[in-house]
Amino acid sequence: MNPVWKIVTLPGDGIGKEIIEPAKKLLKSLEEPLSVSFDIREHSIGGEALREFGDALPEETLAACKEADAILLGTVGSSEFDDLPVSERPESAVLKLRKELQTYCNLRPVKLNEMSAKKSCLKYEQVRNVDFVIVRELLGGFYAPEPNTTRSEETNQVSTIMSYTESEIRRITKRAFQLAEKRKRRLTLVDKANVLAVSRLWRSVVDEAHKDFPYVKLNYMLVDNCAMQLVLNPGQFDVLLTDSLFGDILSRQAATLAGSTGLLPSACLGEKHAVYEPVHGSAEDIAGRNIANPIAILNSVAMMLRYTFQYDVAACFVEEAISTVYRRDFFQEDLCLPERKEISTDSVGEQIIEETQKAYNLPYIMG
Ligand code: IPM
Ligand code: MN
Repeated sequence: MNPVWKIVTLPGDGIGKEIIEPAKKLLKSLEEPLSVSFDIREHSIGGEALREFGDALPEETLAACKEADAILLGTVGSSEFDDLPVSERPESAVLKLRKELQTYCNLRPVKLNEMSAKKSCLKYEQVRNVDFVIVRELLGGFYAPEPNTTRSEETNQVSTIMSYTESEIRRITKRAFQLAEKRKRRLTLVDKANVLAVSRLWRSVVDEAHKDFPYVKLNYMLVDNCAMQLVLNPGQFDVLLTDSLFGDILSRQAATLAGSTGLLPSACLGEKHAVYEPVHGSAEDIAGRNIANPIAILNSVAMMLRYTFQYDVAACFVEEAISTVYRRDFFQEDLCLPERKEISTDSVGEQIIEETQKAYNLPYIMG
């Protein structure tokens, strides 16, 4: 009997619904070469769930996620709910889901090949060697779900707390060092230790952990400098370790290195659960037009194949197929190129599936 893997898909808002379709098709197309079955169940999250169930993270969605072997999330965020308090907004569902599943470790790889370096917003020479991973803490700091906020009516004051415990920092630090050991053995802790006491704690925990990883070269970088270095000399980085806020901002900035926010995948990992999702947002302005770039979510599927299922070859085949298709003459809206020739979400997805099947010497009939 072939193994049956349970995958929950959460399309969410905006372009989420469109980009999740090719991702599901890609998984289905891999059943034959991998001799597995992917049992894919779709559930509601974010604005869509608020509309349908009055709750951004309905009970049944959470229950299904807890049962799943892996979760694929589209995008969450809808301007329709801009007036809601933050604890009820679509985005709160993502934070609650991460907390419930204890997925504290967010991996956001940024790797450019010859072609994406040419399509970058920066000069080719500046970005050609870019290959780093942002390891972002997900559960603590400013992004910890409520109650990390206090209010005073009297002074009309709102405080959001940036709090980390030593053990929260220690577990993500260990993951970052382990990853660095398998790569170029360089770890950069990004913080604001000249201002924030919480950053001082990060430094002392990371210093202590360094003793167990003596062959990894550790350095510190202040976040404002890091934002600049990511533009000036992004090739210097290997593994960047940082908190939820800085990681959110820097990973989005890093996406521009590749010329598009529509390319970068991410994995949110815990001890038991894993959520895979693109780094980009819900892009409501282009939603429903079949022009959203599906590459980030297909790269996220590759990460799922690698990290949850250990199908390393399949993951490589998908990534190579993406490179092949990306090399073709297509320019989507999100690429910062003067020349724009739109092609559809569906068609990019189909071409990537076809190339993946070719790697397995299997024919693929598009459509
Ligand atoms: C991301 C998103 C989320 C985050 C939001 C939707 C909560 O921006 O994954 O980067 O900041 O973590
Ligand atoms: Mn973000």
